[in-house]
Amino acid sequence: ASARLPKVTAEELVKHNKQGDCWVLLFGQVYDVSPYLDYHPGGVPELMRAAGTDATALFNQYHSWVNYESMLKACVVGRFDGDTSKLP
Ligand code: HEM
Repeated sequence: ASARLPKVTAEELVKHNKQGDCWVLLFGQVYDVSPYLDYHPGGVPELMRAAGTDATALFNQYHSWVNYESMLKACVVGRFDGDTSKLP
């Protein structure tokens, strides 16, 4: 199924770095976490640290056990197909 998802570039991902429009890269997939922000147990500012960039390292640092795939099922935007060195 993931092969049919749209591809998201680094240039596109970085544009979505605001609270009402917040995408994150997590394990190769891009999620629009805007609707989830208010429900994040770690708080909005913590999750916003990863806005428009790769959240994977921070995610693993705080809670590698969290089942993000099931939690963010409705938030999938696409699969990352870009250059991570272009991310902030
Ligand atoms: C807590 C989900 C990203 C920092 C939590 C918890 C969940 C969650 C379910 C509660 C865990 C528990 O109590 O066992 C997510 C999801 C993310 C995400 C789905 C997807 C992007 C992040 C990021 C950071 C972060 C990027 C850090 C920059 C934290 C912190 C807590 C927490 C510090 C602990 C809050 C506490 O125990 O008081 N998150 N998180 N999370 N998260 Fe996240």
